[in-house]
Order: sequence, then structure tokens, then C-alpha cells
Amino acid sequence: MSNLKSHQTIQSSARNFLLDSVAERYSYNFEWLGRPIIQYPQDIVAMQELIWKVQPDLIIETGIAHGGSLIMSASMLTLLDYCDAATAARMLHPAIPRRRVLGIDIDIRAHNRAAIEAHPMANRIEMIQGSSIAPEVIAKVHERAQSSAKVLVCLDSNHTHKHVLAELQAYAPLVTPGSYCVVFDTAIDDIPAHMHSDRPWGPGNSPKTAVREYLKTHSEFEIDKAIDRKLMISVAPEGYLMRVR
Ligand SMILES: C[S@@+](CC[C@H](N)C(=O)[O-])C[C@H]1O[C@@H](n2cnc3c(N)ncnc32)[C@H](O)[C@@H]1O
Repeated sequence: MSNLKSHQTIQSSARNFLLDSVAERYSYNFEWLGRPIIQYPQDIVAMQELIWKVQPDLIIETGIAHGGSLIMSASMLTLLDYCDAATAARMLHPAIPRRRVLGIDIDIRAHNRAAIEAHPMANRIEMIQGSSIAPEVIAKVHERAQSSAKVLVCLDSNHTHKHVLAELQAYAPLVTPGSYCVVFDTAIDDIPAHMHSDRPWGPGNSPKTAVREYLKTHSEFEIDKAIDRKLMISVAPEGYLMRVR
């Protein structure tokens, strides 16, 4: 950014854009390889940068919806595998892809499951139906993560403080040093309460308040503020948590 003044001007425009676009349900406008992805394009680009930087072999996502973010992660992992010279020969006959995505959702609708399972990226996606904070689901995810060297986690399910804090406690420990726990929809805390009136979350009871509470006792994670600074428009401000040790 050239100078502070232009930075402040863009930030103020970005804030106005976020408020106006949330009111218009902007995040529902996009698809990734044919599946609806409920994200802002800036955050999708940030995820691409993180996946390239971390080179995870497992991405765990809570909140599947139509599967767009699962397919996006799976497609990035496919690219990583293809870029990995060591696995190139194996990829000519990819019986079992090396890098995998694990998605959890309390309600995987039959038509969404069918579309995800029919997608060319399906062979590296596993879905678990159940609440992301149910002990049996957490146990299954931990078991799947055991053999993974680099794990990245994305939390995008129920956005209440209590639920996200429980998800952080359950899944953030799986994040490997140098990788990230991305907590989506922290922006809820910055959006007036009347814009969430049909939801159990809102300012003061949001993913951002959960992140703040979690970080008080988990200094192994730090907010990657450089991502917030450059995105400006994001549903995850203060939500890109890097595991520093
Ligand atoms: C915002 S959508 C996920 C969007 C998706 N990550 C994407 O980018 O396209 C939230 C999803 O969380 C799921 N959900 C709500 N409560 C949940 C819970 N307790 N456990 C797991 N998933 C839950 C909903 O069923 C919904 O599909």
C-alpha cells in the first residue's frame, strides 16, 4: 500500500463494502469447480496462499454446506501432489491420493453428498456427519489425523462463541507448527446485531470472541496480521491463526 492515507481510505471503503455486501448475501455468489462455495473471493485467495505455503497433507474442515470449500481444498491438494516430483510417478496411477480433506457437517444433505461424491476431486475427500463438537466425531478426526505430518484446520460451522471455542479446543491442537487454524466468520463481531437477528450469534457472541478467549491461554498460536492487512475485505479478520510452535 503506497501510504497510510490511501490505506485508511481503502479500509473505510472495504468496511462499507463488507456491510453492504453481507446485507446482499454476497458470499453465496460463487462456485469452485462447479460447487457453491460460501466464501468471499479474498478469503479464497488467502486460503490458496496458505495451502501453498504450508503444503498440508491433511485439511480438516468443519462446515461442508454445498461442498465448495472441500472441493477447493481438494483441488489445491491435487495440485500440490502433482507439483511434488517425488509423487509424480505414483500420480500417473493415483489409487489412493496422498493428501486428503476431511469435512465434518451436522447435516450433509443427500443432494450435496451425491454431488460431492460424483465430483472428480471426490477421491481425496472424506465426510463425517455429526456435530463437530460431539466426542465421537472429535475422536474420529483425531484418529484420521494421526498419520499426517502437516495439518491445516478450517472452522466454518456453527458460529456461536461456545461452539467455536469448543471446536478450537478440539481441533487446534491438531494443527502442526507452521500451519494454520483458520476461523471463518469472525467478521460477525463487526457487523451490527440486527443483521444477524435470525441467528444465534452476533457481536459479543461470535467466532472472534472465541478466538480472543482461546488465544489468552494458547500462546502457540498467533494471529497472522499480515493476511488481515492485505485482504482488507474478509469474513475472517483476526481468524488466520498461525501455529508458531
Ligand atoms: C457456512 S456453512 C459452511 C460453508 C462451507 N465451508 C463453504 O465454504 O462452502 C456452515 C455449515 O455448518 C454446518 N453446521 C452447523 N452446525 C454444525 C455443527 N454443530 N457441527 C458441524 N457442522 C455444523 C451447517 O450444516 C452448514 O452446512
